[in-house]
Amino acid sequence: MNNEKRIAIVTGGSRGLGRSTVLALAARGIDSIFTYNSAVDEANKVVAAVEAAGARAIALQLDTGSVGSFDAFVGEVRRAMTSLGAERFDYLVNNAGMSDHTKFAELTEAVLDRIYAVNFKGVVFLTQKLLPILKDGGRIINISTGLTRFTTPDTIPYASLKGAIDVFTLYMAKELGRRGITVNTVAPGAIQTDFSGGTVRDNPAVNKHVASLTALGRPGVPDDIGPLVASLLSEDARWVTGQRIEASGGMNL
Ligand SMILES: NC(=O)c1ccc[n+]([C@@H]2O[C@H](COP(=O)([O-])OP(=O)(O)OC[C@H]3O[C@@H](n4cnc5c(N)ncnc54)[C@H](OP(=O)(O)O)[C@@H]3O)[C@@H](O)[C@H]2O)c1
Repeated sequence: MNNEKRIAIVTGGSRGLGRSTVLALAARGIDSIFTYNSAVDEANKVVAAVEAAGARAIALQLDTGSVGSFDAFVGEVRRAMTSLGAERFDYLVNNAGMSDHTKFAELTEAVLDRIYAVNFKGVVFLTQKLLPILKDGGRIINISTGLTRFTTPDTIPYASLKGAIDVFTLYMAKELGRRGITVNTVAPGAIQTDFSGGTVRDNPAVNKHVASLTALGRPGVPDDIGPLVASLLSEDARWVTGQRIEASGGMNL
């Protein structure tokens, strides 16, 4: 796999941690097929930045909560791979996700179903449908959260379904070991992105509070995560599988 052109599929590559991942991969000479949900202009900017770095990227629209659209999406992925000169891809990063801070007493079935669809069901079925075109010896990274180890108010469904991602990772690592595919979770702490309305980045009180809880003394930035994901996809990390790797700067230690 080392000398061949390598291709990653990254969900939610238009902004935040996914964007940082796509750019970190481009810096290592790895092409990406990445998805956006609605931010097409941001996605196009990421494609341009990847090309400026000397790699290639193709942006595809996908709502990860819409499992019924996945067969058509896999068809688009196949066509994108053909245009990149490959039949199979090397790395899958299940990064796209939505936040939610509904108070438990106010939680409705519709809200829980939507978080489940985007943050868990979509990850499960997208992985299932992409596995036939993932190379043996490839890698999968699922993005979870520090909130599966420690708590914060009004985050019960979000954190619980990310907890399901941690367990999904463990079982998929066992399932796919026979194909030489590693499966790991990266669990970021609070990172300054648009997530949760950009609160960690834009609300000075929240930013300061997160810094006070963090051993390294600040909230995270996207580039604390993207290069880590890229490094876990490298050959150097080949013996790591079934693990939850927290990247939180030491939040709530
Ligand atoms: N930021 C944090 O503090 C933090 C901490 C721990 C874990 N995480 C996890 O990290 C991942 C990325 O978060 P982020 O901070 O980078 O968020 P972000 O800046 O809000 O970006 C979210 C990305 O996911 C895409 N997306 C959102 N909903 C989608 C859907 N239904 N279908 C397909 N794509 C969708 C967005 O596409 P568009 O651009 O088209 O909207 C965007 O590319 C998420 O899984 C999140 O749970 C974040």
